[in-house]
Parts: sequence; structure tokens; C-alpha cells
Amino acid sequence: MQVLVLPTAGDVDARAADLVAEQVSRRPDTVLGVATGSSPLGAYRELARRQAHGLLDLTRLRCFALDEYVGLPSGHPAGYAAVLERELARPFGLPPSRVQVPDGSRGDLGAACRDYEEAVARAGGIDLQILGIGANGHIGFNEPGSSLSSRTRVKALSARTRADNARFFEAPDHVPTHCVTQGLGTILDARRVLLVAQGERKAAAVAAAVEGPVSAMCPASVLQFHRAVTVVVDEAAASRLVLTDYYRFVAEAEHRLPREEG
Ligand code: F6R
Repeated sequence: MQVLVLPTAGDVDARAADLVAEQVSRRPDTVLGVATGSSPLGAYRELARRQAHGLLDLTRLRCFALDEYVGLPSGHPAGYAAVLERELARPFGLPPSRVQVPDGSRGDLGAACRDYEEAVARAGGIDLQILGIGANGHIGFNEPGSSLSSRTRVKALSARTRADNARFFEAPDHVPTHCVTQGLGTILDARRVLLVAQGERKAAAVAAAVEGPVSAMCPASVLQFHRAVTVVVDEAAASRLVLTDYYRFVAEAEHRLPREEG
């Protein structure tokens, strides 16, 4: 795991955009796994800005969302299909067909989950998965207690996640109780993973994910099993990490010494 601790949230956005841009320049038709929520928005905006300046071409990407709420009416502005259309597809110049989101409105949710796994597999798997992290350590909507080898499935949202996400809805009790989410096993199948976190509110979850024991109590800790994870955090989100001096040394040495992996 490579952990990059950067001074500000803006630095996190720029560095995350660099890592995505590197991947896209290697492979313009990259299959990108995309998180919603606030954490990656700055990176998405920075990528769109670079494209507008002719610095990269995002129009050949194929994107897969991590998750979707169950039971929201189609087109609901807080639904992740609508969020990704607004924040990613349009600014990146991608037709909606190149951004897939699990179908949380289908009668047969089990079939929707299976179809989603199949769609990811047919696309050749995720090349780079972008993740945020919940204050309770979730990735996707894999709440504490999730199976570490889970696949795309229906999950109940925790009270904490519903409270955290109430800001996107008119009232707290409008937040759906359930979601369809890629599983932790699905996420681990991605060839590379990039986790971004900003702010003190994420510090405990980041520390548990990166330095804690691997445990279903902090679902993000399963990333310790992945061979190619980069965690990009600002000072506030890094404030409860123990090995911060080591992470700084690795980042500082990156350009003059062999680049480390994993
Ligand atoms: C969103 C997702 C979640 C969020 C997490 C952090 O698709 O899967 O895991 O990344 O809840 O949310 P923010 O970034 O809003 O703090």
C-alpha cells in the first residue's frame, strides 16, 4: 500500500487526478470504477478541467459506479445515476451508456446484482477503482460487518451512513434504508485502487483501514490484501496515522529512488 500524505484537500484532488491521468494516458479506453459522494469530486473536476485544456482525453473511458440506493425513483437528483451523469459523464463528455450504475429500482434486485457483476466482467474488469471512505470505514456501501469476500449485493445502510448522507436529501428520513453495492471481493478484483480522503472526520477510518488489523469492523482494511493500492489523504485525514514520517519519506523519495509497489 502506498500512502501519500499531502498538505491540503486541493493537493489530494490534484494528485488523484494525476494518477487517473497517468492510467488514462497508458490506456485511453480504461475501465474506471467511480465512487460518488464528496471525496472524489475535486479530482473529477480537475480531470474535466485538464480535458478542457486539451491535456487529456477522457471520452474513451468506460465507467462503473460502486453503488446505488434502492428504491429511489428514476432520475432522483440524489440517486447515484443522476449524480454521476451531472458530476462525471457530462463534464467528461461521456455518453450515459459509458457510465453504468447498479439498478436499484429493479423488482428482482438479485438479478440486478448478478447482471452488474457480469457487465463488469464483460468489460474486462476494472482497471482503476476510485474509492472514498465512510467515517465508519465503509468502501462502496460495504458497512461494518460486511463479508470481506462479498460480491455485488443488497446491503442495509447503517444509521451513521444515513445520517452522513442526509445532506443530499430534503429530510433525513428520505435517505433510503438499502442500497446495491459492489462487494469487497468485487472491489479487490480491480487491477489498481485509489482511495482518497480529506478532513479530520475521516482520520479514524483512514487509520483503521491503513494501519489497523484487517477486520470486517473496518471494511476498508480489506484493501491491505490488494497488491496495488494508493491512498491519497490530506494532513487532517492523516492525523491519526502512526507511520506518517515513513509515508512522507516514501513520497519524497519517489522521484529519485526506485518506485515502490504495494
Ligand atoms: C460512494 C461510496 C461511499 C463514499 C463514502 C464517503 O459511491 O461508495 O463509500 O465514498 O461514503 O462519502 P463522502 O465522499 O461523501 O464523504
